[in-house]
Amino acid sequence: MTGTVLVTGGAGYIGSHACVALIDAGYDVVVLDNLSNSSAVALERCGSICGTVPEFVQGDIRDRQCLDAVFSRHTVRAVLHFAGLKAVGESVAMPLEYYDCNVSGSLVLLEAMAKAGVKNLVFSSSATVYGDPATVPIREDFNLAPTSPYGRTKRMVEDILADWQVANPDWSICRLRYFNPVGAHPGGTIGEDPQGHPNNLMPFIAQVAVGQRDKLFVFGDDYATSDGTGVRDYIHVMDLVEGHVSALDYVCRQTGLHTINLGTGNGVSVLEMISAFERASGKAVPYEIVARRPGDIATCWADPTLAQTLLQWRASRDLAQMCQDTWRWQASNPRGYAS
Ligand code: NAD
Ligand code: UD1
Repeated sequence: MTGTVLVTGGAGYIGSHACVALIDAGYDVVVLDNLSNSSAVALERCGSICGTVPEFVQGDIRDRQCLDAVFSRHTVRAVLHFAGLKAVGESVAMPLEYYDCNVSGSLVLLEAMAKAGVKNLVFSSSATVYGDPATVPIREDFNLAPTSPYGRTKRMVEDILADWQVANPDWSICRLRYFNPVGAHPGGTIGEDPQGHPNNLMPFIAQVAVGQRDKLFVFGDDYATSDGTGVRDYIHVMDLVEGHVSALDYVCRQTGLHTINLGTGNGVSVLEMISAFERASGKAVPYEIVARRPGDIATCWADPTLAQTLLQWRASRDLAQMCQDTWRWQASNPRGYAS
């Protein structure tokens, strides 16, 4: 496929990897990002990887004039909508900011797309919309019960997109529910660069291994899992973004509303992740078991069958590769893009 794709949030962790996958697949890429949680250096590095730097517009998805200008300058075939705020704890402390950025921002984007006649959209949703599932693996038709303002913003945008698609049946919208993205591009030049204290497991482990933090705190070892620690479906970010290219291909071929999990279908515990990272990095990852993190669930992994059926996509990279690629990025950029 060819054409121009607008990538909102394209300077961020997943968005920057998506730029690489899109350019490799032959698309022209325009990034709109306000850099609130990212660095433009990521896009320069995408250029070094692919030979083409994505066109970059620094702006906010809530800025309608900015969006109108982007759509009038480019004939955009589809939008990959990554832009948003994503920290669960922060969303509890600052709910209005989350509803404004994630929900109002998506509304402004939809209005601008409608005016410009751009009808193909891939939206970054999250497995967090399922809340604490009754059983695993999680299928797309499971009940939705998000437990945080962040999760509720994702569910609200999913609902808005469903209503919009009913009213506009010539649109094609894909709501992708990601499980736990980790890893980095194998070249080690782009990766996850959390600001301040990492909330998620993998970046925290990587910072311990590289010597920036003394030890990992394991949040609970009394869950009903094989070793008592939380179990998640970690998915390599390169697999995840390849899934987006497949989803983009799919939405450009047919109209409708599609809702698809992107996961591997495998559950990995915190202790298993620590061991895998130690093997991949050759570094010790000291840890201490502490109390459960409020709001955490025991077990969460995907049923990835629908993605295989509709998109002919499945994750192919294993846990060792997730850890090796995270380590290569972390070891060569110990302070992220500021290194
Ligand atoms: P990220 O913070 O690295 O990327 C988000 C990007 O959006 C950043 O570059 C940020 O500067 C930009 N942005 C934020 N608000 C904006 C606004 N109002 N206007 C323009 N740009 C704005 O996060 P990520 O991990 O790459 O996540 C991308 C998307 O995937 C998010 O929507 C997130 O909720 C979703 N998601 C992420 C995960 C995960 O674990 N990383 C899991 C499930 C879903
Ligand atoms: C978190 C978010 C979720 C989001 C997902 C992917 C919360 C409550 N949920 O989920 O909304 O969709 O990230 O971005 O924040 N762990 C430790 N020590 C740490 C960090 C994590 O033991 O320092 C454990 C957790 O208890 C969990 C596992 O590691 O069992 C994974 O945690 P994390 O990476 O934060 O992801 P999720 O909990 O799945």
